Amino acid sequence: MPKGHEKVEKNIGLMMIMVVLVVSIGGLTEIVPLFFMHSTTEPVEGLKPYNSLQLTGRDIYVREGCYVCHSQMIRPFRAETERYGHYSVAGEFVYDRPFQWGSKRTGPDLHRVGGRYSDEWHRVHLINPRDVVPESIMPGYPWLATTPADAGVIQKKMRVLRKLGHPYSDEEIDNAPQMLADKTELDAVIAYLQNLGTTIKKRR
Ligand code: HEC
Repeated sequence: MPKGHEKVEKNIGLMMIMVVLVVSIGGLTEIVPLFFMHSTTEPVEGLKPYNSLQLTGRDIYVREGCYVCHSQMIRPFRAETERYGHYSVAGEFVYDRPFQWGSKRTGPDLHRVGGRYSDEWHRVHLINPRDVVPESIMPGYPWLATTPADAGVIQKKMRVLRKLGHPYSDEEIDNAPQMLADKTELDAVIAYLQNLGTTIKKRR
């Protein structure tokens, strides 16, 4: 009758159960503490949830698949911080559901693009990138300029986000559709881009 370790080695079913158990303990000890660490769950100082125009722009960013070519995650390497600015920290993404870190950089990282260009530059660039960057391979998004920003579901979206912990006041939710009045989808995307990564940049 095999004993102890020999018993596990000779019984593949038991071995599999033990392997899964050991691996899951390893995973749990690495992952579970992240939910309780303040540096990953607490917003960085001064971080505000997106206002209704920025939030609408963010949803258009996702809809148009901008994340397919652009990351929003500056890594803590000199080559990255020299080009883009302060590396990204977890507390900056607390109000991003889901975050847009991405993993593909056909274009540059956009995490700290906020304030780098004027609204007018973005307007021209998004309609036809080659008007400002002749060698650009980014597609144009001219329809954004002629499509009104949708105010229909914004209050519902903000209420859901508030349930998840975004500190929206009743007043902000009441005024949300008004902020979108007379705005195009292009205005919304630009408002979103201009806010990106500015919480840390402003502090420096
Ligand atoms: C097919 C890939 C691709 C897609 C999709 C794409 N881009 Fe780009 N983007 C690029 C490339 C390449 C550049 C660099 C050349 C340029 O500035 O046009 C760029 C540049 C940019 C810049 C300037 C960044 C800087 O620091 O100079 C912004 C802002 C931008 N894109 C926003 C967007 C937004 C918003 C969307 C979605 C509506 C989008 N991009 C979709 C490829 C892409």
